[in-house]
This record gives sequence, C-alpha cells and structure tokens, in this order.
Amino acid sequence: MEMLGLFPVFYVPEFGSAWLMGITGTIHILASHTSVGAALIFAFLARKAYKEDRPEIYDYMKKYGMFLLIFSYVIGSITGPGIWYTATAASPRGISALIHNFVWVWATEWVFFVYEVVGVFALVYFTEKIDRKTHLRLTYTFALASVGTLALIIGIISFMMWPGTQQFYTTGSASDAFFGINTFPHMFLRIGFMIMASGIIGMVISSALKKENPELGAEMTRTMGIISAIGGFLTLFFFMWYIGTLPENAKVLLGKLLPDIIESRLILTAAFMVYFAMAIFKPRWISTPLASVMVLVILVAGLWPGEKLRESLRKPFVAGQYIYSNQIIARDVPGKGIKSEVERVAQYGLLKVHPFIPANLRTITPENKMQAGEVLTKIACSNCHSLEKTGKYRPLAKLLPTKDAESIKSYMKDVIGQGLVPYMPKIALPDEEYDAMAAWLAAQQ
Ligand code: HEC
Repeated sequence: MEMLGLFPVFYVPEFGSAWLMGITGTIHILASHTSVGAALIFAFLARKAYKEDRPEIYDYMKKYGMFLLIFSYVIGSITGPGIWYTATAASPRGISALIHNFVWVWATEWVFFVYEVVGVFALVYFTEKIDRKTHLRLTYTFALASVGTLALIIGIISFMMWPGTQQFYTTGSASDAFFGINTFPHMFLRIGFMIMASGIIGMVISSALKKENPELGAEMTRTMGIISAIGGFLTLFFFMWYIGTLPENAKVLLGKLLPDIIESRLILTAAFMVYFAMAIFKPRWISTPLASVMVLVILVAGLWPGEKLRESLRKPFVAGQYIYSNQIIARDVPGKGIKSEVERVAQYGLLKVHPFIPANLRTITPENKMQAGEVLTKIACSNCHSLEKTGKYRPLAKLLPTKDAESIKSYMKDVIGQGLVPYMPKIALPDEEYDAMAAWLAAQQ
C-alpha cells in the first residue's frame, strides 16, 4: 500500500505540542515586536533630539538601545530558531507548507533582519560619535528595515489563517498566497501592538532615570505613556477590522469564545488605560518595579491569550486552509500538485496509510485494540486536544459529550466523521478504527 507522506506524531502529555509552540512563540513575539516598535520610537526620538537640539534624549535612546540589544536581540535570536524546532516537531507539514510557498520571502526577510541587527549596534555605538544628521538617517533606515521584516513575516503568518484569495489554490503562486484580504489588517494590528509594547518597555528605562536625571525621566515616561496609549488605540481599532477579514470557520469559533474574551479583555484594557493615564499625568509615580511588572502583565495576560486565540481561530487547519492540524491534507491544491488525503484515510484507515505505525498495529485484533485506539487518537486528535483527564489543552475527557464506548463511537462517526463541526477536521475512518478509538477513550474516562 502506498503510504501518505506523514511524520511521527510529536506528543506532549498534559499540555499538547501546541502549547509548547505557543510558549516559545509568545516570548519570541514580545522580543521581536518590541524591536520593531522600538525602531519606530527611535526614529521619532532621534528626530525630536535633532530638531529641538536636545542631546539628553540621545542618552535615553542609548540606554533603551542597550536594553533592546539584550532583551530583544538576544532573547529574539534564541527563541527564533526555537520556533523552528518546536514547529517542525509539532507540525512538520505546516512548516513545510510555509517553506514551499515562501522560501524567497523568508530569504528576503532575513536580509532585512541582518540590516536590523547591524543597525541597532551602529545606532547605539555611533550615538554622538557621528554627526547628528547622519545618525538621524541611520535611525530612519533602521526603522524601515524593522518594518520590512514585519511586513514580510506577516504575509507568511496570515497565510496560516488562510490564503485570503481563491486563486492561490489554482495558481499556487507566492503572491496569491501572500496578499490575502487578512494580511494588511493583521499587519496594522501588530504595528499598533508593537508601538504599545515598546512604549511599555520604554517606561522601564525612563523610570530608571529618576536618580540621574529626574526631569528627563519624567518627560520620557510621559512620552512613552502617550505613545503606548496611541499604540493601544490602534491595536483595538485594527483588531475590529481584522476580525471582519477572518474565514468562516474562525468566525464560528470566535462566536463560541467571545463572551470570555470580552470579559478578560475589558479588565486588561481598563488596567492599561489607568496605567497609561498615570504615566501621562503623574509620570513620577511610575517606578521601575511597577514598569517591569507591567511588561510581565502584557506578556502573560495580553500576548499569551492573543496568540492562543489566533491558534484556535485557525482550526481545523494549521496552514492555508488545506492542511489540518493533525497533518492530514484536507483538499486538493492543483497549483501545488497537492491532493486531498481525507478519502484515502477513510477508505483504508490511518493504521494502513501512516508510515510510522508499528507492524503489530497495522491490523486491529482483540489483543491490540486498546493500543491501536491510543495510537489512533494520538494521530487524529492530540494535535488539538490533551488526552489526559488532567490535561490543560482542550482535554478530550472533559469535552466528550458521552462516556460509554458506543456513544463516543457514534459521536465520532456521525459528527466528526461527517465534518459537521466547522472548527474540527473531517476525520472519516473505517468502522474498526472508530471502534478502537472509542474503546480507548471510554477507558480513559
Ligand atoms: C484541528 C484541531 C482539532 C482536531 C484534530 C480535533 N478537534 Fe475536537 N475540537 C477542536 C476545537 C477547536 C474544539 C472546540 C473546543 C472549545 O469549545 O473550546 C473541539 C471540540 C471537541 C469536542 C466538544 C464538542 C464540540 O463540538 O465542541 C469534542 C467531543 C471533540 N472536539 C472531540 C474530538 C475528537 C474525538 C478528535 C479526534 C478524532 C478531535 N476532537 C480532533 C479542534 C480539534
């Protein structure tokens, strides 16, 4: 039998491989986003320092730049490859799809990134060493390169949500994949967030200036407060636009999750509005410990749920609306010579067409039924659900509407097998495979 090009399942107990990806991603995003946001802030500050002849602003920029070198560039460079490793393990075909569609876009992004890294070193090192006008120009090119890296990556990440154009499936062209209707709202949403996050980090640095130069510290805290408030407003504004450009499956899930999101977001937004107001009107109240705590809050309460939401909304797909999160190809993509695998899996069963099944499990017998059920559930469901009762990631034990094997089987066959839930893949399997999975799932209850 001809095997499908599937990879071994990378299974993370309790948390799920998606959480591992999410944790690495969230840390990386805080680092990378603040590097772009700070580049924009630097352009603004450098212009101010130059026009108003304010050398002390360079001191602040230099301190911020040093902080950025450690915070964004070291952490960002460590977690960047970390994302490659976790993504390759958690979703080998997802990452493969991105590479096959965007290899040159990624190469171009890397060139911008190199300029960005050299730029930030030059910017910090040459402060007050070269004439100010040249320094200002350098700052502008640094900002342009930073926004360039963002613009290129966003096209790739937006494609994960969906290509946004139907032509892509027939042409397979990189530009049809890149310029979806979702790309620009996503980009502006991120720029808003980047500006806000960099302002929040900027307050850590300005509050530390208190002893040395309290006047400058207060002024910079106020400036960062205004910048953050503008960034926060842009984030909310573009989020609304972004939601309007999501595919149908995402809207269904969003409807389901919205009440929780609104509640937690309202509290967070209110907390940050108070914080920004304090920075603007009472800058001296912002201490370094408070400013540092707020960086943590934006990471844990802002970015982490945001990234989790984006991951959820993509369901049942991991990329391009043609690869399910469980790695099965969901539809034909003639432009790339890709064929749907759903029908072959339904006809022969996963145990027969998955290349990494132990030989003794290829055929289900009364002796190996439980073991086969476990392996099948790992392949079919574990990319989106924890299998342990105590699991953190949409645990199946909690979600299954019934507890006995017979009704679990009919739920899988009549609901999931027919593709009736828009946020779950259509997982059609031969009867004996449903049997084995249902038996194993019932035994876990
Ligand atoms: C592509 C990701 C994905 C895969 C693969 C997947 N599910 Fe789901 N499933 C979801 C999402 C998303 C939800 C919604 C969870 C929520 O409400 O928070 C869900 C919900 C459920 C529910 C709750 C009922 C409902 O309609 O909301 C059950 C039961 C369930 N899944 C069973 C399974 C089983 C069994 C498998 C494997 C055969 C499976 N799922 C595979 C994404 C997936």
